[in-house]
Amino acid sequence: MTLNEKNQDDIISLELINSYDIKYIFNNKPLNRLKNEPKIENKDKLLQNLKEKISNIKDCDLKNNSSKLVFSDGDANSSIMIVGEGPGQKEDEMGKPFVGDAGILLNKMLNAINMNRKNIYITNVVNYRPPNNRKPEPSEIIRYSNFLRKHISIINPKILILMGSTAMESLFGNKIKISRERGIWKDIIIDNKSYLSMITFHPAYLLRQPDQKKYSWVDLKEIRKKVDELGILI
Ligand code: URA
Repeated sequence: MTLNEKNQDDIISLELINSYDIKYIFNNKPLNRLKNEPKIENKDKLLQNLKEKISNIKDCDLKNNSSKLVFSDGDANSSIMIVGEGPGQKEDEMGKPFVGDAGILLNKMLNAINMNRKNIYITNVVNYRPPNNRKPEPSEIIRYSNFLRKHISIINPKILILMGSTAMESLFGNKIKISRERGIWKDIIIDNKSYLSMITFHPAYLLRQPDQKKYSWVDLKEIRKKVDELGILI
């Protein structure tokens, strides 16, 4: 068994893998980027279509118990895309991701590495607020991951930041632990295109566990380093 196969056996949720039609590659070294660029002029239309598709979701507990679809915030042409978990109360009221306490911390985290959220694209795994802010159920994560993967393909970021275990689970399955996987560059292939991604702690978790901020800071500095290496102007 090769090291690559062993890693995959160790950490991939077969359940999720079987439900997706994509390959996962866990590796610190970036692959050659596959070229499959979405046409910029279509982006707005594609995003609008995706939003409509999500708004037409049927028999969804999340949609049925929330007031607004929370789709995204920021610059759709950004090279950096952040994925959180799902809207909270404030986000549900305003129809925008990360506008409550976790959002305030997220803004500070980005500012600390000389980034401004308006230059970044931000979305969530689920687009409707889970009742009582519960964590989305595995079945909901799987259902919405189809939308999320489409969303990522449309935005086509150079760097994908997955904040928290729900975002991690949505794309990498539920057999891995965020404490072990955070801070490591991983390639994920969606629709024949490879995306460089990093899992890191969610700001809401950092508000509950401030002693973990030191790890988050390591990840943020690594992200800044990669942004500079790739010549991303942000
Ligand atoms: N937490 C998230 O994961 N997303 C939000 O939009 C707000 C809080």
